[in-house]
Amino acid sequence: MSQDLEATLAEAKQKILACESAHALKDIERIYVGKKGVVAGLLAKIPGLPAAQRRDAGKTANQLKQAVLQAVTARQGELASSEIEAQRSGAGFDATLPPGRTVRGSLHPITQVTRELEDLFQSMGYQVLDGPEVELDYYNFEALNIPANHPARDSHDTFFCEGDGHLVMRTHTSPVQVRAMERLEPPYRIVVPGKCFRQETTDASHDHTFHQMEGLVVDKDISVAHLIGAMKTLLRGIFGRDLEVRLRPGYFPFVEPGFELDARCPFCDSGCSVCKRTTWIELLPCGLVHPNVLRAGGLDPDEWGGFAFGLGLSRLVMLRHGIDDVRHLLGCDLRFLEQF
Ligand code: PHE
Repeated sequence: MSQDLEATLAEAKQKILACESAHALKDIERIYVGKKGVVAGLLAKIPGLPAAQRRDAGKTANQLKQAVLQAVTARQGELASSEIEAQRSGAGFDATLPPGRTVRGSLHPITQVTRELEDLFQSMGYQVLDGPEVELDYYNFEALNIPANHPARDSHDTFFCEGDGHLVMRTHTSPVQVRAMERLEPPYRIVVPGKCFRQETTDASHDHTFHQMEGLVVDKDISVAHLIGAMKTLLRGIFGRDLEVRLRPGYFPFVEPGFELDARCPFCDSGCSVCKRTTWIELLPCGLVHPNVLRAGGLDPDEWGGFAFGLGLSRLVMLRHGIDDVRHLLGCDLRFLEQF
């Protein structure tokens, strides 16, 4: 490096070391290696030099640039650590100040109801099970007494997985009924909370993904009275008091007889917008397990019986919190979620 350049570099280093702030350091950096800086000036002169000198001139200019940048980086590090040092020891640092507010998340309202109901059912001797969301056609339909071409398949707007059509996104939690029968020794009681999927046009009361909780009891001499008893306990758990219930006939191929169970509106005495002025709210579909389903699960219908119900968790959360659009539930909007 020529003597001139040596001097320039020494001067730059001195200035860099004298910098007391990151801001000042940036200024110095700009003066030397910026677009219109010293190095740029040297490079600009090269074309005017005799050919023999150009190579060396270019090389030294670059050496200068690298050396300046190195010195700047080193000084940056020094400044940063001395800043921390100053904060620690000097004025303005108070180790006893409380930290800023940490933002805490909360459980999703669906998770909240799921856990409450799991507790409630466990206290009644139920086990909590789960099953696959991508399900075999066999468990979602066939084993539930809904063979291929059965008209009931139409009401389950099914998402079929790619391939030969054996895999579907489960349209309800009922497939776990048969999976449970295959695995457990009767008698038993189970609940199965989980996600279900239907290929539906979404609106305020339909979403393509929603949550259900399946219930299944298998035992000897099970009757509709057992079903009603369990549902009344469920209502007490959800709404905190006894509510009158009524059964209407309902058709589901995997229960016989099948019902729609209604409860007295917990929000009014004489009709309101929730019960659409009827004083009854539709709570859930249910029924006694169909003999064909018991058989599919490897049970002898002459020996064992059972009841099953399918509680719509999404709907329950909406009822509880007065939510008017089911799409809020899985919409991931923090303004909605932060309310719970
Ligand atoms: N699986 C049914 C559905 O989602 C509901 C149901 C469950 C009905 C259990 C009866 C018994 O449509």
